[in-house]
Amino acid sequence: MTEQTGLEALSSESRRFDPPADVAASANVTAEVYEQAAADRLGFWEEQARRLQWDTEWTSALDWQPPYAKWFVGGRLNVAVNCLDRHVAAGSGDRVALHWVGEPEGDTRDLTYAELLRQVCMTASALTELGVQAGDRVCIYLPMVPEAVISMLACARIGAAHSVVFGGFSAQALVDRITDAGAKVVITADGGYRRGAASALKPAVDEALKRCPDVTSVLVVKRTRQDVEWTEGRDHWWSDLVDRQPESHEAQAFDAEQPLFLLYTSGTTGKPKGILHTSGGYLTQAAWTHWAVFDLKPDSDVYWCTADVGWVTGHSYLVYGPLANGATQMMYEGTPDAGGRDRWWSIIEQYGVTLFYTAPTAIRTFMKWGDDLPGGRDLSSLRILGSVGEPINPEAWMWYRRVIGGERCPIVDTWWQTETGAMMISPLPGVTSTKPGSAMGPLPGISVDVVDGEGTSVGKTGGGFLTLDEPWPAMLRGIWNDDARYRDTYWSRFPGRYFAGDGAKWDEDHVLWLLGRVDDVMNISGHRISTTEVESALVSHPKVAEAAVVGAADETTGQAIVAFVTVKGTVGDAESGGDAFAQELRDHVAKEIGPIAKPRQIVLSPELPKTRSGKIMRRLLVDIAERRELGDVTTLADPAVVKAIDDSMAAAAGAKR
Ligand code: WT7
Repeated sequence: MTEQTGLEALSSESRRFDPPADVAASANVTAEVYEQAAADRLGFWEEQARRLQWDTEWTSALDWQPPYAKWFVGGRLNVAVNCLDRHVAAGSGDRVALHWVGEPEGDTRDLTYAELLRQVCMTASALTELGVQAGDRVCIYLPMVPEAVISMLACARIGAAHSVVFGGFSAQALVDRITDAGAKVVITADGGYRRGAASALKPAVDEALKRCPDVTSVLVVKRTRQDVEWTEGRDHWWSDLVDRQPESHEAQAFDAEQPLFLLYTSGTTGKPKGILHTSGGYLTQAAWTHWAVFDLKPDSDVYWCTADVGWVTGHSYLVYGPLANGATQMMYEGTPDAGGRDRWWSIIEQYGVTLFYTAPTAIRTFMKWGDDLPGGRDLSSLRILGSVGEPINPEAWMWYRRVIGGERCPIVDTWWQTETGAMMISPLPGVTSTKPGSAMGPLPGISVDVVDGEGTSVGKTGGGFLTLDEPWPAMLRGIWNDDARYRDTYWSRFPGRYFAGDGAKWDEDHVLWLLGRVDDVMNISGHRISTTEVESALVSHPKVAEAAVVGAADETTGQAIVAFVTVKGTVGDAESGGDAFAQELRDHVAKEIGPIAKPRQIVLSPELPKTRSGKIMRRLLVDIAERRELGDVTTLADPAVVKAIDDSMAAAAGAKR
């Protein structure tokens, strides 16, 4: 975390906001739930598992052979049936599951639970026709359209694991993920609407599949109606293949540990890792946390999570958690400023959204855009506000509470990760007195411990590394194709404990503050990107000799990518050639990984600062990137290097102004 946030945190440590009386009075869970879970942790999770519909009950709650967990051993269920069929069977078929809002104004679709079930059934049969079987992997590369949700649930229904790839990732990123997962089928669209225009998706798939010979079929949703290239025999329009399938589909139950999805995320090395999640434990925790942390009342709430389905938040809190709970929710295709910078607030007003879940980056962006925009809309339907993805600074927290929540709505700052599958640390809105900027403490049934560098618990106050010292139902079951990496990344630094990669501290009231990543993973607008991944992309450019990438504090995006690059030979004069070359490199990174990984700034420097043993001094580069006083550089092989880099940085900053 940045030093600035640290200071803000100090001043907000003593402020508290009690749960509003009306929320507390009718809350789904009360304070007793903490005691109950503490007294019998496994019994507590078994009780939450019983909120789901099982075909066969489990014989034991947990089989824990560290670091391998099996939850609800022997239990059998179908995840899609839990998200759809059982609600329809219970008489809620006419309830809206998804209020979908496309980016072009007026382009909307409402899908009831009965309609969503019908579409999932047809899609499940279509996938079966394409040869997909239980245990196979299906790659989903779609914009934020209902078909993304339908595809995920259709995979779940037939026991195939999906691997959703965020639509902003490049063809190369797609190749890596398709190949690692061994996917045979890709579901995509001609394109989608972003920032007021139709953007294409299918060309990236066409390009990727030149290098993925094992993909036999591509299912293509017609969204924008732009021209696409077509590979006969391989490509199928959704509207042809899915629409001619039978409207019902008999679902089979699968083992609680049946793989449900892979989701690729960045680690500290260049290669993204396929995080594996399974069925029963994952759904139990996703559903319970969504119900308890958002205090969901399925009959009256309208819930909106703004995350894209390409990220884990979209998986757990747009698809599985809310649908397992029978929620009515929003799904919005576009960017927050499409059709006006108050687009989100107009959606909240129009649909009467009651529960709202977004990221600090978005909140800080809206702060910049001014109070007038939300102020011009009726947001009085809102009841509870959520935050996720990165530490929320107290200023943003207070603004969120005042301007969006009308000083009335509790804020739940939820800490979790792709790996944890579901929320781990969060207040409960009817129970917890919150401090602005803090995620407060572990949820019932979750055990966290902050430890020092030796792995010794810091106790009830003090800072260190965040670890999880007991298994939890939604935990990752491994890294696809890389068991050694699973053990090494999460379980070797502090043996017997899961190491999250985050710093954290308990304050004097034993309230938990998340302090950001302590490894080489950056958090850009709540998206995880590894420094090494961007470095590899940069050095794959023929003119780049060496690259060092750091995350520098950024007012809006939390962190921003700053790349220090040395070149082979020359790239033209520093004035014009340098700028053009920096732009070329930024585009190169976008092509290799995706636009989200584009460095904010490229600093061309004669050399990189290294220790005498040849290690790049990233900490120093962060200081340079954040324009802070430089600390001790005596371990540097050549201190003059720092001066030179600092000068090119200053020159670049000057040129910008
Ligand atoms: C990393 C996980 C959780 C879904 C979205 C991101 C950071 C996440 C918080 C929070 C402080 C947070 C952590 C974590 N993070 N939520 N409420 N407060 N930090 O998932 O891409 O797997 O990233 O995001 O650093 O390790 P992810």
